[in-house]
Amino acid sequence: MPGCGNSDLSQKLLTKLGVSNLEVHSVDYEEAVVKKMEESKPKDLKLTYSVGDVTKLVGHADAGYEYAVDKGTLDAIAVDDKEETVKMCHTYFKEMVRVLAKDGTFMIVSLLQPHVYKILLDYFVKGDDLANLFTIKVNRIEHIEGYAEKQFIKYFVSVKKMPIDSSNAKQLEMRTKLQDMVHIKDSVNSEVQSLNYEKAIEKIKVDQQIYMIAPTLKSLDKGR
Ligand SMILES: C[S@@+](CC[C@H](N)C(=O)[O-])C[C@H]1O[C@@H](n2cnc3c(N)ncnc32)[C@H](O)[C@@H]1O
Repeated sequence: MPGCGNSDLSQKLLTKLGVSNLEVHSVDYEEAVVKKMEESKPKDLKLTYSVGDVTKLVGHADAGYEYAVDKGTLDAIAVDDKEETVKMCHTYFKEMVRVLAKDGTFMIVSLLQPHVYKILLDYFVKGDDLANLFTIKVNRIEHIEGYAEKQFIKYFVSVKKMPIDSSNAKQLEMRTKLQDMVHIKDSVNSEVQSLNYEKAIEKIKVDQQIYMIAPTLKSLDKGR
């Protein structure tokens, strides 16, 4: 969990999900918080904490994690849309992609302000990562009765990493050509639309609901 703060989410992933053999590691750059979390954690759980900068995770191996779960960390980093902020967010994404396993998933709970969405799409759809293709799903989180933060609409974004076969010249060529196009699939009626990037951003800003955004490289490769 990148940027865990003092949240008990890491602990809940272990106690509430019911997934066997799950291990959770959480990172934050606030030393005092990490020390407190490490000291107060239940000792019978596979739960570890370390101090670290999520934009440069020293000591974390490539492809070492199946999932990365961000709750509020991207929102904390993406304070505005200034060039240096965007650069820092993209460095963060690159680091998450590095530590995620092949087919790993980056999950983000965010308020998803339009500039944050643009930062996400700029990296995962328009970005220059030629080794991977990303599928992005966006779900609105239902309000929970009595939940203190219910006045905020929050979104759950899931970014799935899919490696591209670098020996497949056709895939690489198509990946480059697809950079200016995204396909939006409304997961409710399964209607797939092909939009250019700017239109996609507009559509998302106007009507943030439930979307899957996927450059359909694999189906194109099969000639469909
Ligand atoms: C809004 S808080 C969310 C905390 C927690 N995830 C939660 O759900 O309550 C953002 C957290 O990200 C951490 N953070 C921000 N930038 C970071 C960075 N570059 N490296 C590590 N942690 C960072 C902050 O210290 C803070 O704990």
